[in-house]
Amino acid sequence: MSLMPENLTLTTGAAERIMQRIQEAASISESTQYLSRRFASSEHQQINTLAAQWMKAAGMHTREDAIGNVIGRYEANDSQTNAPAIMLGSHLDTVINAGRYDGMLGVLCALAVVESLNEQEVRLPYALEVIGFADEEGVRYQSTYLGSRAITGHFSKDVLNRRDEDGILFVDALKQFGSNVDNLASAIRKPADIYAYLEVHIEQGPVLEAKGLPVGVVSSIAGANRMSVSLTGLAGHAGTVPMNLRQDALAAAAECISLVESVCSNHDGLVGTVGRIKAKPGASNVITGDVEFTIDLRAAQDEVRRDRVGQVVEGMAAICKRRSIEIGIEHVHEASSVSCDAHIMQCMQSALRSAGMDVLVLPSGAGHDAAAMAEITKMGMLFVRCAGGVSHHPDESVTKEDAIAGADILLKSVVNLCR
Ligand code: GLV
Ligand code: MN
Ligand code: MN
Repeated sequence: MSLMPENLTLTTGAAERIMQRIQEAASISESTQYLSRRFASSEHQQINTLAAQWMKAAGMHTREDAIGNVIGRYEANDSQTNAPAIMLGSHLDTVINAGRYDGMLGVLCALAVVESLNEQEVRLPYALEVIGFADEEGVRYQSTYLGSRAITGHFSKDVLNRRDEDGILFVDALKQFGSNVDNLASAIRKPADIYAYLEVHIEQGPVLEAKGLPVGVVSSIAGANRMSVSLTGLAGHAGTVPMNLRQDALAAAAECISLVESVCSNHDGLVGTVGRIKAKPGASNVITGDVEFTIDLRAAQDEVRRDRVGQVVEGMAAICKRRSIEIGIEHVHEASSVSCDAHIMQCMQSALRSAGMDVLVLPSGAGHDAAAMAEITKMGMLFVRCAGGVSHHPDESVTKEDAIAGADILLKSVVNLCR
């Protein structure tokens, strides 16, 4: 195997396979109607098996860790056995009714990088690891970054006793998946073993498209809170209970949701979303007695986010007091905003210039495993343009040329980082 030559590019085969694999991966779904792959499901197992096959074909040794991350390793050049790794990847889980590119594109770009090096018989001074994270979306247990936080050792034990929508405990789901919570610590990686983490992701916003650019460099990742809220009122007859004597949990929830919207509407980079709500008993002629809903609140600045979380919590308490509704709030997730590493950003910018592309640096409003990985290593991210900025939606769309450009810039960034 030769050392790093100048001007490495993707091989044609590796480039061609990115979109083919996007389609193949999208066929692994819990539903035939839409794309959904939740943490620790049998589809999670299937996508890991497929990703491991691809990794092996790209010359990597593979393993699955205790949380269900799938990892392939491509060793460094001969003089550097046990070298620290540059880790590349993204997540393999999806939201419900997802697009095909969120997460998957990052894993496949990483794979294309290693495949290209392998086909050109090139080894780098660092090992390369490709990782498909087990859970970034947090759909099943409401706690995002389960995969990456297991690696950094910041896995929150709170999730262990949480139940999914079907009442399945996290511990049992992991057991069914073939792992065990008692082994979770074995997934932790030493900071010294990971030199850097680089992730390609679709932008999930409209900026690159508006600027006419295929790839951009990420500057920072917004912080986020997630809350699970439960409201308890009193179910009753819709025809007989006068309006002023009701304890209608759904009417209270409506007011709380409006509050979230108004509290989050007055600052740049601040957003608040209620994405899921369940009302019981759920009949048109019954006043709602119980409601559960989620709140997702994010901001580029941590002080702003914490302040608005406080406003929402206080405001909802006041609404519920006035309406004689009991409120319970569980803070199920918190992540601070994180800056990308300045040197990695420079390597990415040089990569764009050497490919003849304009450089655009932009922040991420979405959360990414890179934010969790920043706890133990320096990290950087590349965004790839997506049509209309649409994401978390089946219409998510990326062109083949842009996907290949993302992988090529990732390869060039890795090479720059090795210099
Ligand atoms: C992940 O997609 C997130 O930002 O919620
Ligand atoms: Mn997502
Ligand atoms: Mn994602």
